[in-house]
Amino acid sequence: MCGIVAYIGHREAYPVILKGLKRLEYRGYDSAGVALLNGGLKVYKKQGKVADLEETLVGKDLHSNIGIGHTRWATHGEPCDRNAHPHLSGNGKLSMIHNGIIENYVQIKKELVSKGYEFVSDTDTEVLLKFIEDIHLNNEGSLEEAVRIALKRVVGAYVIVLLDADNPDTLIAARKGSPLVIGIGKGEHFLASDASPIIEYTKEVVYVNDYEVAIIKKDELILKNLGNEKITPFITKLDLELAAIEKGGYDHFMLKEIFEQPSTIFDCLRGRLDAHNGTITMSGIQQYADQLVNANRIIIIACGTSWHAGLVAEYIFEEVTRIPVEVEYASEFRYRNPIVNKGDVIIAISQSGETADTLVAIESAKSNGAIILGVVNVVGSSIARTSHGGAYTHAGPEIGVASTKAFTGQLAVLTMMALKIGLMKGTLSEKRFIHLLNELNDVPEKVSAALLQHEKIREIALKYQDAKDALYLGRGYNFPIALEGALKLKEISYIHAEGYPAAEMKHGPIALVDENLPVVFVATKDSFHEKVLSNMQEIKARKGKVIAVVSEGDDAADALADDTIIVPYADELIAPMINVIPMQLLAYYIGVAKGFDVDKPRNLAKSVTVE
Ligand code: AGP
Ligand code: GLU
Repeated sequence: MCGIVAYIGHREAYPVILKGLKRLEYRGYDSAGVALLNGGLKVYKKQGKVADLEETLVGKDLHSNIGIGHTRWATHGEPCDRNAHPHLSGNGKLSMIHNGIIENYVQIKKELVSKGYEFVSDTDTEVLLKFIEDIHLNNEGSLEEAVRIALKRVVGAYVIVLLDADNPDTLIAARKGSPLVIGIGKGEHFLASDASPIIEYTKEVVYVNDYEVAIIKKDELILKNLGNEKITPFITKLDLELAAIEKGGYDHFMLKEIFEQPSTIFDCLRGRLDAHNGTITMSGIQQYADQLVNANRIIIIACGTSWHAGLVAEYIFEEVTRIPVEVEYASEFRYRNPIVNKGDVIIAISQSGETADTLVAIESAKSNGAIILGVVNVVGSSIARTSHGGAYTHAGPEIGVASTKAFTGQLAVLTMMALKIGLMKGTLSEKRFIHLLNELNDVPEKVSAALLQHEKIREIALKYQDAKDALYLGRGYNFPIALEGALKLKEISYIHAEGYPAAEMKHGPIALVDENLPVVFVATKDSFHEKVLSNMQEIKARKGKVIAVVSEGDDAADALADDTIIVPYADELIAPMINVIPMQLLAYYIGVAKGFDVDKPRNLAKSVTVE
């Protein structure tokens, strides 16, 4: 996720681009930049917000009627000035911005280095730009042709926009997997990641499709496919208001992020899980694989929802690697003078990568000689930089304070780590590894299916919105999901909720059960299913109201529950990523029904950077 803006026409390009980038900052910003053509090619870029860039440009000659701009959400290369976009070609004649991930950039970079190309950044983007430059220099055809040749080789997701000093009246853009909208003005064109930078100038837009290349002049738009065949642009009229566009048409960022999960989980698996060849590749873990394989103990350190991801990981790692795992609240771990032995591996889980308790906890563990692996969403964040290695969740910016898509991204990364280590250790058979790999590969599709229950979940939410308390119960892999469901309800609707292992209810909490208490069971088909059905009966016998998340076709659980939410079946080790979806939606719809600000709940911050 990041934001791209480009302009060509009769206006001053810089003000249009700057305003557009500010509109896109919700898509992620760790650095920003603009490139303008006025005689020569001028590139200005820096780490930080768009306003920081703006400050450095005051008083400069920024006159130009054509330009490109970018707010970065880093995937390759930490946030810093040299990794910011736009990037420059070796000969200084091309400048490019990019939204997405080039998966095969390492191979392409090796080939370019062998040809003598040098790189000033760590990004995949600079590699793609110099790949295009190399083709253009060695190919008779136009720059447009070089772009098409390069993109046929590229694996990954991209929107790119190129400025060419030799053709100052033309922008070239292309997309696959990342969004690109072109606004059609009178003698001018606007390009952006979504319509929010465009809507104030024109409501006529073209949504560029995958594998299309756009050649844009101020009064001409040509669309072609990678086979150089012309495509008629389909112009649509915008009917969304600005605020709605930023939320992708959803009422809240939280709902948008819940519904983004099929694609964010896909992005997290992309380039790592290869179901066809039966492999998992995680470069940031690879160099510490031996320490993991030979670990005496894994200590997982996190807070809140990330701690719940750690609990799921404990069950998975212990099952497939037989390595003892401890999951620690960072705030407790750091003050307890913890025992950290050589041979311990620490996994730090954090969406923001800036949670103070987690950061200090791993700093102290690191000083005791432990290997720290980070599972983080924000590239280049403090926890990521303090860790020896790790893997990013690639969930994109999570704006809603309640963590949703980052959580499922964490589970995807942790599951891949555990499967890889289990296979390496021999404690996970090849057969079960392949089975689980395929189950993991199917998760985006099954999450999409679970999301189809949103209307049913909304009805259930309306029914229970006035509850004063709630219990969330689950066993095994579903126990952490019960905890996560309770946390979501608390932080979004302010209803007191507690998560428990379903069997533990008999040891006290069952005293709470009466006809006013909704009890949410995460009751999908797994090794504990019969036991969970008995627990449901125990609640029913005391007049409790049972809301159950059940596997499709599970009539027994359906018959027992007052309200049922059906999700696709998945192996119990993989199911948490799917079973959490109803938890997220139930909390969201109850919070909305109660009229609360679900994106910014009271008392909460997106990142708790204080102890
Ligand atoms: C989750 O919905 C909460 N917003 C909160 O518990 C969060 O998970 C916790 O503060 C940890 O944040 P982190 O993942 O950024 O470290
Ligand atoms: N992969 C590119 C980078 O890390 C683009 C990231 C983005 O979409 O902002 O610079």
